[in-house]
Amino acid sequence: MKTLERVEPAQPKTAFYQRICEQLQELIGEEANFVANAANTAALLFHTLPDVNWVGFYIAQGEELVLGPFQGRPACVRIPLGKGACGTAAEQEKTLIVPDVDRFPGHIACDTASRSEIVVPLLNWGRVLGVLDIDSPSLNRFDEEDQEGLESVISVFLHSQTTNDLPDLSEGAADS
Ligand code: SME
Repeated sequence: MKTLERVEPAQPKTAFYQRICEQLQELIGEEANFVANAANTAALLFHTLPDVNWVGFYIAQGEELVLGPFQGRPACVRIPLGKGACGTAAEQEKTLIVPDVDRFPGHIACDTASRSEIVVPLLNWGRVLGVLDIDSPSLNRFDEEDQEGLESVISVFLHSQTTNDLPDLSEGAADS
């Protein structure tokens, strides 16, 4: 069992995220399993990022995103592409910062405590594998430095994947 080293949320954020990337690299090691690495990524972020109430993955499957490994309260299972913050980020293939969820049309409320949100797509050779979604109980919690840092974290996560270990995204594959 790995012990998580305490990562102080000291400024600047770039140093904070760099340390998280190093810790994630250590946690992943040689492991290439998608679910295992996604689970540890969510756990690491949940326990090191200050002021967050939900951290998790939604995995692309056909025209939907399906709930993957996460930390936080139980969440909605399926989100159509283009819907909510997650479906929008996946469809647009770029990171989405939602400073105030009540002002984001179509926001899907899973945890009523969430006030702001950031969604980072998992892009692999032009294919959207899914998204990383992080919620905060504070308004305006995420900025461009968080975006840059979390995109680096996702890059470390995606580098751990080999083609054989990527989820089968064909329609219905994960249901069979
Ligand atoms: N708020 C997200 C749904 C997922 S939960 O926040 C965990 C959305 O609008 O897509």
